[in-house]
Amino acid sequence: STDKRVADLVSRMTLAEKVGQMTQAERGSVTGDPAVITELGLGSVLSGGGSTPAENTPGGWADAIDGFQTQALATRLQIPLIYGVDSVHGHGNLDGATILPHNIGLGATRDPLLVARAERMVATETRATGIPWTFAPCVCVVRDDRWGRTYESFGEHPALATVLGTSAVLGFQGKRLDSSRSVLATAKHFVADGDTAYGTGEGEYTIDQGITEQSRDHVEAVDLPPYMAAVAAGVGSVMPSFSSIDWTDDGLGNPVKMHANKALLTGWLKDDQGFDGFVISDWQGIHQIPPFAGDSPTTEQIGTGVNAGIDMFMEPSQFERFHTRLVAAVQDGEVSEKRINDAVSRILAAKFELGLFEEPFADRSHADQIGSAEHRAIARKAVAKSQVLLKNDGGALPLDSGESVYVAGRNADDLGNQAGGWTGTWQGFSGEVTEGTTILEGIRAAADDVTFSEDASAPTGGADVGVVVVGETPYAEGFGDVGGPEWAWDPADGGVSREEKSMSLQPGDVEVVEKVCAEIETCVVLVVSGRPQVLTEQLGSIDALVASWLPGTEGAGVADVLFGERRFTGRLPVSWPRSADDPVVNVGDQDYDPLFPFGWGLTTGGRTPHLDEHRTQLQDAVLDPVNGVPPAASEAIATSDVALLEGRKGLAHRLLVDARSGLE
Ligand code: IFM
Repeated sequence: STDKRVADLVSRMTLAEKVGQMTQAERGSVTGDPAVITELGLGSVLSGGGSTPAENTPGGWADAIDGFQTQALATRLQIPLIYGVDSVHGHGNLDGATILPHNIGLGATRDPLLVARAERMVATETRATGIPWTFAPCVCVVRDDRWGRTYESFGEHPALATVLGTSAVLGFQGKRLDSSRSVLATAKHFVADGDTAYGTGEGEYTIDQGITEQSRDHVEAVDLPPYMAAVAAGVGSVMPSFSSIDWTDDGLGNPVKMHANKALLTGWLKDDQGFDGFVISDWQGIHQIPPFAGDSPTTEQIGTGVNAGIDMFMEPSQFERFHTRLVAAVQDGEVSEKRINDAVSRILAAKFELGLFEEPFADRSHADQIGSAEHRAIARKAVAKSQVLLKNDGGALPLDSGESVYVAGRNADDLGNQAGGWTGTWQGFSGEVTEGTTILEGIRAAADDVTFSEDASAPTGGADVGVVVVGETPYAEGFGDVGGPEWAWDPADGGVSREEKSMSLQPGDVEVVEKVCAEIETCVVLVVSGRPQVLTEQLGSIDALVASWLPGTEGAGVADVLFGERRFTGRLPVSWPRSADDPVVNVGDQDYDPLFPFGWGLTTGGRTPHLDEHRTQLQDAVLDPVNGVPPAASEAIATSDVALLEGRKGLAHRLLVDARSGLE
């Protein structure tokens, strides 16, 4: 059994070899000197966002990783390394990969089975390049849309994050981890990364990596359920959050960094929930543990992190220092060998389960499926199901393919913008994503007469319909409320404040919307963004408004619903605020009054719901997030995990459908 194999191996390892297994370096740091993998017996290497091998092809990736693996196997005990990457909505670092909508869009689909299938596709594309581990899914519950990582969340409701997070874990890991279509999943960022306070903490804008100031009851009801379900589903690893929380009592006096939070990492996760996978730190996560004295990671930071319950450390460039200091800390008695043995056993168990000891090198047999028509069809369906029709006056949608269409807006023909962060590069800068279909290309394939003018400067020429595609440009994690550099404007530098920028449409976008809606009789606006954008003032002139989220590489899925190839069925995963001042929206709160409430979404072709009716239903607290996951959903999830793991797919399917109905 795995346990026996682990125990036998650990009994033969030296302290330095054990610590090597707990150390993860970044690809770029070891590429020039791969022999360091053998010297330290490194347990893992990762590719950070945008960190790609010289030849960015499936074969180029597999060759590079096999090269690292050869170094790992040259160690005394020939222990294979485990390579990890952020396949958070597809193998984002790989040119030509199929890129799904970001989680916020998947949240709008309300379709657990689709999410499981979609992540199975991602797992296949990832493992075919020699990578058996993804740092996904993010099972965060986003409670303030100003957070720059809002798009990585399935939504503001714990049930959504729980059901779809679990579906994602099941999809990634499949029935067997040693399948060439499976990758080890990571539930992140543990815990309450999406539930931090705005504008407090050490810096002015610390919503990302900030402090969770919610009560313990709230965290138990809102932020912890997705982890409970992920652990029950057998998730292989968990990544702590950069944020802090006080878990020692109900007070708020002593927030502790999650990377140092023994009460949650060891107490709640490992002891109470029985999590038997391993905890991987975030990127230099322990460097943020006070006190700050000397070069990080200091011996004290390392000791605190290991003793808190972290098993493997993402030390992209300081891995040698980490290794030396952890060995010394054990020799000095600051960390017990028992804790080291526990950490190493967890890591080795995952490597055995993944079949890495039997087949350490890339299984390239599914490489031809990367970016295949079959995979793109799965993503395209997910895109179509993620589109939320917020307004549709006079039945403006669906469009008729015979109508003349005037398309405008800077997100209409930009694959990078529609994919968002974690694609091509870490921040996902536009221009780095080259394979796929833009929304404009999708519209061109569906309609006969299409004119495109990004800034709407070309004459509208009596077009029947205007389709304006506006929204955000890519960004990723960071301290600010919005992330990407172009957003980091400060009034002191002559720009507008981040707060104003964060959820308001950019001035250029407003101009294009106003111009097209004034000139063309029927005006459709698509918002391509990682979170709601405030366009309350423009709403009156817009006939049809669609939240398109960050659809990824398959823009044709957007055209599918615009032209009635598929019906609109998506529902809001987060409330849509009226103004940039009310992005904290909690269903059930007394002053809950968003422009469009959580769960809102019109259909085309079916019964048309009424906004007021929907509001009333919500206020009846059917979905009160503070009361946690609806029992029907949580029960169904628990059972479906078992069913899917046992391979009873028919039953799993039924239960996942039940889980979905528990959400509705
Ligand atoms: O997995 C990510 C995490 O979500 C944020 N920091 C970096 C990690 C590795 O890229």
